[in-house]
Amino acid sequence: MYIAPRGTSDVLPVDQPYWRFVRDTAERQASLFGYQPIDTPLFEEIGVFERGIGAGTDIVEKEMFILQPRREESRRYALRPEATAGLCRAYLERGMANLPAPVRLYWAGPNFRYERPQAGRLRQFSQINLEAIGSDDPALDAEIILYAWRLYQALGLRDLSVLINSIGDRVSRAPYLDALRAYFWPHFDQLDPDDRMRFEKNPLRLLDSKNERTRELLENAPDLQEALPPASRDHFERVLSYLRAAGIPYTIEKRLVRGFDYYTHTVFEIVPPNAGSQGTIGGGGRYDGLIELLGGKPTPAVGFATGVERIVLNLKAAGVEPPPLPAPEVFIAMGTAAAAVYAFALADELRRAGIGAQLAAGGHSLKSQFRLAGRLGVRYVAVIGEDELKADTVTVRDMRANQQRTIPRQQAVAALAESTTNAIC
Ligand code: HAM
Repeated sequence: MYIAPRGTSDVLPVDQPYWRFVRDTAERQASLFGYQPIDTPLFEEIGVFERGIGAGTDIVEKEMFILQPRREESRRYALRPEATAGLCRAYLERGMANLPAPVRLYWAGPNFRYERPQAGRLRQFSQINLEAIGSDDPALDAEIILYAWRLYQALGLRDLSVLINSIGDRVSRAPYLDALRAYFWPHFDQLDPDDRMRFEKNPLRLLDSKNERTRELLENAPDLQEALPPASRDHFERVLSYLRAAGIPYTIEKRLVRGFDYYTHTVFEIVPPNAGSQGTIGGGGRYDGLIELLGGKPTPAVGFATGVERIVLNLKAAGVEPPPLPAPEVFIAMGTAAAAVYAFALADELRRAGIGAQLAAGGHSLKSQFRLAGRLGVRYVAVIGEDELKADTVTVRDMRANQQRTIPRQQAVAALAESTTNAIC
């Protein structure tokens, strides 16, 4: 027997109401905010991620699922580890740069990262993304955070915190990175292998090291915020003022840098109380240099992503009950095997009239068919037994009122249409 690959999950019917609730709420919020849906391929040329996310990041270095088609040896692809780089590729390729800016996009789908699986950390996981491309207005940074906040609120998640920071841009950060390296250099032999790599490839990531010794050393490290130019600080202040205006509580987290090279200025994460490293429920930031890295004109942009599996974990932990999925309204039970074709045709007629109808599987006693109908929670059971078959009638039992009546077959669909609340006709 096969088992699912490590780090993947099956979303079973019992969990689907959570997923539908999250996706429907996210989509509705996105349209309230004027973000338009877009889909992109599951895989891209590997360069999209190497250039976009950064060759020295964990994601690109260790976590990509690389595809090498046998008949196309000169090209390499990767399953998308995130959505933003592919969305920017699509923005450039499909002429979205000619649309009025900002282009506001909503995206939902699975991503793939070869991470060490644990609760809330999967190798295939689903994200919801929001991206606003083409403007450096700080109101957009705040709009994206506001979207995230309103989404979590609408889902019923409370006690979340918004952690926010500003990390400047590539140019304004360069002297700071030199200063940070100079500070850590005398302590290089105290760094663990991961942090040594960070020192060499991306010293900014030392700021969010989990290593205790590195964290101690950080106490006296040069301060990034003080090194940022006035324009960058002003942008950050304006983002914060919008957040205050919307009543979004936030905490400035000076060590927050996030694991992608493309971020500039604002970065943020949204975390539940007592969240560990895989507890972050959503995160994002500004990425003013990404589109240029992918071959476009310099184009400012900001966005965020949230993980559906992590939202669902949090909804369950908070005891939030998602709305149930629509279930059939009528269950058709058979008192005799001879009724099978008659019942099959009745079910079809009901469905064509917009009434959900589920047919009993053959070979079960009426008692067990009623038990199943009870478990399904249907309001009506239409019973076709020998008598009904002979008289061309249907006995309709109202499970809630505990009453039943026998009606001519010709009138059954109309009668059920009248009784069921969400019937179309
Ligand atoms: P990220 O922080 O890597 O950002 O992912 C965002 C969210 O996706 C996380 O907070 C988490 O909820 C979920 N997530 C990430 N990795 C996993 C995993 N292995 N298993 C389960 N859930 C996961 C990004 O992906 C950026 N592209 C966000 C962004 C959009 N920035 C600008 N625009």
